[in-house]
This record gives sequence, structure tokens and C-alpha cells, in this order.
Amino acid sequence: MKVDIVSIFPDYFAPLELSLIGKARTTGTLKLAVHDLRTWTSDVHRTVDDTPYGGGPGMVMRPEPWGQALDAVASPGATLIVPSPVGRPFTQADAHELAELDHLVFACGRYEGIDQRVIDDAAERMPVREVSLGDYVLFGGEVAVIVIMEAVTRLLPGVLGNADSLTEESHAAGLLEAPVYTKPQSWRDREVPEVLRSGDHGRIARWRRDQSLLRTASRRPDMYAAYPPENLNKKDRVA
Ligand code: ADE
Repeated sequence: MKVDIVSIFPDYFAPLELSLIGKARTTGTLKLAVHDLRTWTSDVHRTVDDTPYGGGPGMVMRPEPWGQALDAVASPGATLIVPSPVGRPFTQADAHELAELDHLVFACGRYEGIDQRVIDDAAERMPVREVSLGDYVLFGGEVAVIVIMEAVTRLLPGVLGNADSLTEESHAAGLLEAPVYTKPQSWRDREVPEVLRSGDHGRIARWRRDQSLLRTASRRPDMYAAYPPENLNKKDRVA
């Protein structure tokens, strides 16, 4: 997968050299480039923002540098992703869809956002997705891009050693995952649940399923309500 990120703070993306994303870059699974938006400015101050039409606080990102940047990095077939608090909520299903694409271009807005014409103009040539990480406002899109890249990269073929991690994890099947434990068996007088030490795979699966349903019902009633009833089996104790 090819990924181009455009931002006025290229240094924000240093963490994308670490850990499994770094490894995916080394192996060539992920071809990632970070670009400084100011490369596409033409004035001595390398200006990227200006005051908003209609008034109001803050500054808006000017369209010219963005237009040139996207002309330069968004080759045919690219999908443009614009993180924004006004975007559609980003979900695991979106991560799966993006992981299927060949080329992602991320446009990181700052201040009050990017002039809307940049998004409208790009949408005539390529798919554009405005995505939000949640109902809160960040300084800009940079951290959101790192989050999205983590969610997408771990779905690329060969990135996770054990592909079962993907089918068993929270959100994979519309439920939250059960609690997990490792050694030691006793820690600060707290024991690992007996069932997990029993070696009885049937009981363990039943326990995990129960925990998963209970957790989802109490922490994410929205998710629980959306869980297809046909996916409940006879032995499920519905919360
Ligand atoms: N930029 C600013 N706030 C954001 C949010 N909540 N999600 C994505 N991008 C953002």
C-alpha cells in the first residue's frame, strides 16, 4: 500500500518509523511518504492560512498550496482522507475498507480547517472521505492520521504474525473482547480465573463468550443493541 501524508508538521510522524509500522515500511508492505505542505507555497513567508470569509475566530487553510500538493501526490486511483471533527466517525469497518486500497493520501488540516473548495475540487477526481476520530476537537489532523494508520496497517497482509488476532479481537465480530490474563497465576492476592487454567476449551470458550456479551452490554449498549440477534446462540445468557 502507498500512503502520502501532507501536513505543516512533518515531524509529527516520527512514530510511524517505529514498531510494526516501521517494519511494514522496511519490508515494503507499506510505502509511506510525509510531505511538508509549505513546499507548495510561493510567498516568502510560506503562508498556508488566512482569515475566514464571513468572520469568526481563528484561521482557515488557503486553497492554493493544498491544490498544488494534492495535484502532486494524488495519482489516479488514490483515495483522499481528510481527518476532521465534522467527518463521519471512523470505525473498524472503515479500517478494513481502507486496507483494501492501493493508495491513500491524507490531508492534515490545522486551525479552523481547510478551505472547503479543496475538498470539493478533489472530490471531482477521486474518492474523498472526511473522517472523525470522535466527538472532541484536536489541534489538527496529524494525530488522527497516526491512529488511522495504526488501524489500517495492522490489517495489511503479513503485518500481524498471528492472523487469529484479527478475528478474535474487539470489534471484529461486533462485540468487545473478554478480559485477558497472563502469568503469574497469583498477583497481589488476585487469581487468574480458574476456568482459564482448566484446560477445558469448551468451558473457556463459553466463559469468554459470556464475558464478551456482558462487557458489551454494560459498556457499549449501542453496540450491543446493534448486535444481530441471529448471531446469538441458544447458550448465550443475554444480559
Ligand atoms: N481534527 C480535529 N479534531 C479531529 C477529530 N475529532 N477527528 C479527526 N480529525 C480531527
